[in-house]
Amino acid sequence: MARLNPTHIFLDVNLSCNLRCVQCAIYELKNPPNSLTDEERCSVVRQIADWDSSIPLVITGGEQFIDRSALRAVAQNCKDHGVFATLSTNGTLIKEDDANWIVNSGIRCAVVSFDSFRPEIHDRIRGIPGTWERALRGLRHLLKARDAVQNGFTVLTSTILGDHNLHEMDAMTDWLWSLDVDNTLYQPLQPDFVRHLPQDWYLRSELWPRDKSKIDTGIDLLKNRLAAGERIYQRPNQFEDIRLYFHNPVELPESICASLDNNLMVDVIGQVRFCFHMEKLGLPVAGNVRTHSLRQLWEARHNIAPAMKNCRLGCGSMICHAR
Ligand SMILES: C[S@@+](CC[C@H](N)C(=O)[O-])C[C@H]1O[C@@H](n2cnc3c(N)ncnc32)[C@H](O)[C@@H]1O
Ligand code: SF4
Ligand code: SF4
Repeated sequence: MARLNPTHIFLDVNLSCNLRCVQCAIYELKNPPNSLTDEERCSVVRQIADWDSSIPLVITGGEQFIDRSALRAVAQNCKDHGVFATLSTNGTLIKEDDANWIVNSGIRCAVVSFDSFRPEIHDRIRGIPGTWERALRGLRHLLKARDAVQNGFTVLTSTILGDHNLHEMDAMTDWLWSLDVDNTLYQPLQPDFVRHLPQDWYLRSELWPRDKSKIDTGIDLLKNRLAAGERIYQRPNQFEDIRLYFHNPVELPESICASLDNNLMVDVIGQVRFCFHMEKLGLPVAGNVRTHSLRQLWEARHNIAPAMKNCRLGCGSMICHAR
């Protein structure tokens, strides 16, 4: 049965990025002149508070520490209005001072990307030498600040699964636990979020896992560790959906996406979507927060339900879209 309210509302604050990842060309973008202002973003936060303050806000983009002032404004507003925010970051720009204010702000959870425990692999994927080292320093600042305040703030990691790590998930998860993070989550490699790639993009991707037994070994290992009680964010069926996608990258045998029932996404210019990729389905954006309330847009979403509910694209296996 469809949920009454979204489980997550996403807000893109800053699109620019300091890294040059091989799998994500967001770094080619920057906020356009008609981007939402601080005040308009705060109105999004206030709307969430008035609607249902238990809906978490996920701040993503780009890299948010490039525009600390915009990030601080959203974080402060979340705190003022009792909205729980999660921040997605590559970690490389986080200084001690940043960590100290974040843990006392409306951001209650930070998710830092680590694609390998091997510095050279993470740096190759992230496109800039020294990234792994800087991300680790940023993560450690967050962990230290978390331990100092002990106010429920949590630190997670996010790892892109692919050819670069599926064969060594044991060592990867052991390393993540050795850092003392609160939880870990995993994303299957997707086509670039920005570039329009052909259907067979994965054949040209150096990160795409081509060996089926390697895929199965990595997924089985994560499922077993989850079953053994490790703090892994995914549910067991979500690992099965990732496996299904890795085995069927062009079209899945069934729809595995629950984004329409779960998500409302606000981009930098205020456009609202119910998954990150509605345009792939030929669907128009749902509307704009400048002209409609979040709630109005959410309630009108069933007009586009059939296209999304029957969608068999692989992005349904990402944790943000997963059933
Ligand atoms: C777009 S980034 C924004 C936050 C921040 N810049 C970072 O990298 O963590 C959000 C998440 O998407 C992941 N991501 C980026 N490109 C991806 C791809 N092609 N497939 C799967 N996940 C991807 C990143 O690793 C990160 O965890
Ligand atoms: S994945 Fe994150 S760090 Fe890498 S280019 Fe995209 S936005 Fe930047
Ligand atoms: S699978 Fe889900 S997230 Fe991907 S385009 Fe289809 S509806 Fe959107």
